[in-house]
Amino acid sequence: MTMKTSHRPSWAEPYKIKTVELIRMTTREEREQAIREAGYNTFLIRSRDVYIDLLTDSGTSAMSDRQWAGLMMGDEAYSGSENFYHLQDAVREYYGYKYLVPTHQGRGAENLLSQIMIKEGDYVPGNMYFTTTRLHQELAGGTFVDVIIDEAHDPASRHPFKGNVDMEKLDRLVQEVGAENVPYISLEGNVNMAGGQPFSMANLKELNSYCRKHNIPIMLDATRTIENAWFIREREDGYADKSLRSILREICDLTDGCTMSAKKDLLVNIGGFFACNDESIFLKAQNMVVVYEGLHTYGGLAGRDMEAMAIGIREAVMEEHQASRIGQVRYLGDMLRQAGVPIVNPIGSHAIFIDARKFLPHLDQDEYPAQSLAAELYLEAGIRAMERGNVSAGRDPVTGKNRHPALELVRLTLPRRVYTQAHMDVVAESVVRVFENRDNIKGLKMIYEPEYLRFFQARFEPLT
Ligand code: F0G
Repeated sequence: MTMKTSHRPSWAEPYKIKTVELIRMTTREEREQAIREAGYNTFLIRSRDVYIDLLTDSGTSAMSDRQWAGLMMGDEAYSGSENFYHLQDAVREYYGYKYLVPTHQGRGAENLLSQIMIKEGDYVPGNMYFTTTRLHQELAGGTFVDVIIDEAHDPASRHPFKGNVDMEKLDRLVQEVGAENVPYISLEGNVNMAGGQPFSMANLKELNSYCRKHNIPIMLDATRTIENAWFIREREDGYADKSLRSILREICDLTDGCTMSAKKDLLVNIGGFFACNDESIFLKAQNMVVVYEGLHTYGGLAGRDMEAMAIGIREAVMEEHQASRIGQVRYLGDMLRQAGVPIVNPIGSHAIFIDARKFLPHLDQDEYPAQSLAAELYLEAGIRAMERGNVSAGRDPVTGKNRHPALELVRLTLPRRVYTQAHMDVVAESVVRVFENRDNIKGLKMIYEPEYLRFFQARFEPLT
């Protein structure tokens, strides 16, 4: 392993188990009924019918005994809760932003940021879209423009920093529409939709000097930025001896503010925040949060949730925590790779992404190969994964057509500190069984399509 963890023989968990939650294996007949009732959408399956739940790493991680103890220290005051100040201290210490506005989760912060900074007709460049982030930008009157490097759209490319911004694409946009119509650049750490791929510090530095010159703020989606810091240390010259903590701080110091879904890196079941250094933006966010979330010292959270988040920040930057986290994801990915299952490379930090186009080459993209594969994996073994392809990408607001993204993926997402190595073995064996039977997998037809973020609630029927 890397030098920071050389005192540990492997990625073994830096904790032991104090409480367990029982899970249930179902029969094939039960799963057939469950997936039919769920309209072949894994979001609509009841969790009690799931054996190993790899739907998401969002809000599904296990809290530590310290975090649970923190819940008991909740100061449930409507205003000025002590826990808000603990959270503010932790954000200032580890992320370095001056001003903090808590929100109930990431999209609450995205709403504030988008409403405050975007005006009708603006263009918002970003290193690949995220579903909720782009929707809030569009609802605020903006148009998202993808400026990630081309390699990010190629599952086979081994580029070490597929989350990098393509500076030429960005400059082309700025020249075309004018910097005054670019309210900020939306920069995501460990780009989720690209397969959990990091940006490099060199790229961020270049972006920072470009944006300073053109007076464009950099707004970080900090949701998985500590995991991004891990890859910078592992892959980028000059960082091998630095702590995760110092790399995280360096990233944040090169940006102007962030939105955060604390349900990922920060090891809590609910929570998020908006943070920034500009007082006038902060004052607007502080005022707007009262409309959508709650008073500015709780933002839709209980005091206890903010305490758990403050403690979660300190645990998330621990070297041995991230070594184990990333080690477990790699363990699963390596098993699948060795069995010939097509996955996105390099392996990211929060999930293994199966390339559904390669897995099911006989299906057209409008037969929703990734959605079909996710349903099939549930049927096979009670394992719940998530579609990240044609359904997630939605329709183009102008043409109304399916966006047909280059990446048609199934995400096996690992909650933090939840599953064991034996669970990973079961997952790999099950995926391989489905792979061996891939020629028999049929596509799906969408029979119900909601207007916003359709992947959450769309329903399907098998094609005959
Ligand atoms: N940004 C990123 C990069 C995310 O992955 C998510 C959520 C959000 C913002 C929104 O945060 O859910 O707290 O409102 N991702 C989850 C996932 C849903 O499964 O990838 P939220």
